[in-house]
Amino acid sequence: MESTVSVHQGSKEEEYSSLLPQLKALIDEDVDSVSNMANVAAALRTVFGFFWVGFYRIKDETLHLAPFQGPVACTKIEYGKGVCGTCWEKEKTIIVDDVDDFPGHIACSSDSRSEIVVPIFKKNRVVAVLDVDSDKKATFDATDQKYLEAIAQLLS
Ligand code: SME
Repeated sequence: MESTVSVHQGSKEEEYSSLLPQLKALIDEDVDSVSNMANVAAALRTVFGFFWVGFYRIKDETLHLAPFQGPVACTKIEYGKGVCGTCWEKEKTIIVDDVDDFPGHIACSSDSRSEIVVPIFKKNRVVAVLDVDSDKKATFDATDQKYLEAIAQLLS
């Protein structure tokens, strides 16, 4: 198995469409989901250099920090709290152009300026979220949403 992901420095669309099949090949259905989340976080950070990329998993009705790449982060987030808990509650992707404009945003790092959080479903229930943070405002758009939702689907 190829142990690296290729980076082309093309457009965002090109990078994601090259990365998606590589992730499909990388994700191993025979291992614990933590292993796959760890590789997905590493691949996304390698290709895009995101400030923070990682997962929170639902355990005991709370989001718990799971594999991530980037600065240390908050370990628990309650249902409906912050961008992650709101994504869980609404069961849909949330894009935040400026974290200062999102009431209740949880600042794990004061350097985070914009964010996208995508739900991961199993049997139609949210089981985890994929959170990507940027240290610049308005980093995420419909292209990120399309591909990060496709990546979330691979982990479902
Ligand atoms: N900002 C998130 C918390 C998680 S960190 O950004 C890694 C939130 O408001 O839910």
